[in-house]
Amino acid sequence: MTIRNQDPIQLEQHGLSKRTNGLKGTLKVPGDKSITHRAIMLGGIAEGQTIVRNYLKSADCMSTVQCMRDLGVQIEERDDSLYIEGLGYSGLKEPDKVLDVGNSGTTIRLLSGLLAGLPIYTVLSGDSSIHRRPMSRVSDPLRRMGAKIIGRDGGRLAPLSINGGGTEGILYESPIASAQVKSAILLCGLHSSGTTTVTEPYLSRDHTERMLKGFGVEVRREGSTVEIQGRQTLKGTKVDVPADISSAAFMLAAAVITPNSHLTLMEVGLNPTRTGILDILERMGANVTIKNERVLTEEPIADLVVSTSNLKAVDIEGDIIPRLIDELPIIALLATQAEGTTTIKDASELRYKETDRIEAVAQQLRNIGIRVETTPDGMIIEGKQSIAGGDADSMGDHRIGMMLAVASCISDAPIKINNLSAVGISYPSFLADLDSLSE
Ligand code: S3P
Repeated sequence: MTIRNQDPIQLEQHGLSKRTNGLKGTLKVPGDKSITHRAIMLGGIAEGQTIVRNYLKSADCMSTVQCMRDLGVQIEERDDSLYIEGLGYSGLKEPDKVLDVGNSGTTIRLLSGLLAGLPIYTVLSGDSSIHRRPMSRVSDPLRRMGAKIIGRDGGRLAPLSINGGGTEGILYESPIASAQVKSAILLCGLHSSGTTTVTEPYLSRDHTERMLKGFGVEVRREGSTVEIQGRQTLKGTKVDVPADISSAAFMLAAAVITPNSHLTLMEVGLNPTRTGILDILERMGANVTIKNERVLTEEPIADLVVSTSNLKAVDIEGDIIPRLIDELPIIALLATQAEGTTTIKDASELRYKETDRIEAVAQQLRNIGIRVETTPDGMIIEGKQSIAGGDADSMGDHRIGMMLAVASCISDAPIKINNLSAVGISYPSFLADLDSLSE
C-alpha cells in the first residue's frame, strides 16, 4: 500500500493511501490503551515503585502521564517501560495548573473518580472533542459520594472542577455498561469510607478490577456487580501490558478483506470483556486461529493467525456491544465486504465517543463510495460493495482514520485521508506497520 518505506509523518502529510496486493508477516501491535491508563494511575496512588512494561506510548496515554506528573508523581520513561514512584493515594498534590486530558475520555473520567476521593481542588480540561462528551455519567454518582463537582451546562460538560475528599461508599446501579463509569466510582471508593458497589446492565471491560488485585486490593465480583471496601492501600507492582486487541482489530480486518494475506499478531490481550471482535469474525466466517494462550499479569493473551476470508453478514446487538464497542467502525467496514446485509443495534453509546461514530463512520464510508443507513442506535450495511476511493477525513477520530486506511487496502482508487495524524491517539506507528506488512 501507499508509498513504501516512508515514516508515518510523511505518510500523514501525503495522506494518500492506496491498494495493496496482500498483507504478510508477523507483528506485535502496541500495548493496550485501557490497561496503560490504569497502570499509570494506580502506580501513582500506590506505595512504592511500579514498573509498567510495554506501555502504550500514544497521545492519550501520555496525557495521563502528564496529569499524574502534575499531581506530583515522578514518572520516568526508559526503553519500553515506565518507572512510577507511587506517592500513596493521599500523597497526590494539589496542582497549580489545569490538568489537560487532551483527547482522552478515559483520562478525564477515571481521574475524576480518583480526584473526587481527595481533599484537593483540581480542574480537568481537554480538547474540543472532550468538551462535547457527556460527563454527568461520572459527576452525578461522584457527587452522590460527597464530592463537589462543577462543570459547564450544569456539570454535564468539561472543563470540570473538583473539590473532593470526605467521600462515602455508594451502592450504584449504572444505567449504562461503561468501564469508565465503573472505574471512576471504584477509584473514588478506594479512598472513601465504607463499601462501594457498582452494578452494570452488562459487564464492561474489567481491567480496573483485575489490576487492583495485582496492586494488592481485595475486589469482590459477582456477575456484573463489583464491590470494594474503602481505605485500602495499594502496593507498587510490575505490570506487563499486552498488545491492544482494539489496535490488532484493524490489522485483523485488513488481512481478512485483502486478497493474498496471511498475518500473525503476537501477544494480543484476550480479556473476555474485549473479545467481541473475535466472536464476530468467527460468526462472519473469517479464518482466525488463536494460538499459545497464556496469562500476562492478570490478563489472558494469545497469538492470532489470520488470513484472507470470505465473509458473511451478521446481526450485532445486545450484550456483545460493550465487548466490541471500539471495534464497530472497523466492523462496519468488514460488513461492506460480506455476503448479505449486516445490522448493528443497541449501540447508541457510539454517539458519545471521540466523534458521533454512527454518523462519522457512515459519512466517511459514503465519501469513499459505500452505501450505509444509520439508525438511532446503529447501522444497516449492505455487503459486497466495492470501495471507489476519494476524499475522506478522520474527523480527528483515531479509529475512523485507521478504518479509512484499512479500506484503502482494497480501494479501486486511492483514498485521500485528511487529519490522518489522529491515529497517534492510540496507535502512532499504525501507518508504518500497515506499510511494512504490505506486499
Ligand atoms: C474504556 C472504556 C470504553 C471504551 C474506551 C476505553 C476504558 O468507554 O470505549 O475506548 O478504558 O475504560 P466507555 O466506558 O464509555 O464504554
